[in-house]
Amino acid sequence: MRKMLIAGNWKMNKTIPESLELIHALMRKLDSSCPAEVVLIPPFTSLFSVAETLRGSSIQLGAQNLSHLTEGAVTGEISGTQLISVGCRYVLVGHSERRNLFQEDDAVINQKLKTALSEGLHPIFCVGESWQEREAGKTKGVIGNQLKRGLDGLTPMEMGKMTIAYEPVWAIGTGKTAQPEQVQEIHEAIRSELSSQYEPETAKATRIIYGGSVTPDNSPSLMSQPDVDGALVGGASLDAGSFYAIISAIK
Ligand code: PGA
Repeated sequence: MRKMLIAGNWKMNKTIPESLELIHALMRKLDSSCPAEVVLIPPFTSLFSVAETLRGSSIQLGAQNLSHLTEGAVTGEISGTQLISVGCRYVLVGHSERRNLFQEDDAVINQKLKTALSEGLHPIFCVGESWQEREAGKTKGVIGNQLKRGLDGLTPMEMGKMTIAYEPVWAIGTGKTAQPEQVQEIHEAIRSELSSQYEPETAKATRIIYGGSVTPDNSPSLMSQPDVDGALVGGASLDAGSFYAIISAIK
């Protein structure tokens, strides 16, 4: 049985005081009966303060990125071990903003996934097609390649720590959400790709979450699709009320 996961990716938003204000507001609303696993993914600068505040709560902490290298003379980078030491359990890898703005290709993403896993983190591995790719009928092929190359060399045991996030690039931050049936179709295709790369049991056990303009209004229909195991929320996670509304719609 896959547990639903709702993750809030704050991107390059929130100072430390703003981060604390947001999590205090969220913690006042959330109670222990929440059936979903909730993950907050603040900017690096807020990780320590947020971790201190979350101590003892069931909310998990994640980071937005990690270095593919493990330590040393790598100015400006942050290692998996450092993320573990600040209290992170999760890390985003392969987000389209990293792919597009920082030219992260499938080979680097594969290295990052391997580094994250070997350092004890649970990656949230993002895949998704551009609008042009969708229009050209290439969606499943593009995502299949991202999965093959990104997961190359990973064992079924390592897959046990992996969450896949399907994020159509055209739906991120645009207010355009994929229709629930379109999302279900792609999640099914991802699961069948995982089935051919691994065993069907591995595919069945892997969480596949959706991201791209998720809001309190559209989340109930998206989250009720059989292969949708949660959401990666950007804009709507910056407000405690709307993020809580998304979480509380999970049954
Ligand atoms: P969005 O971002 O919800 O603002 O579209 C999602 C994401 O980039 O993870």
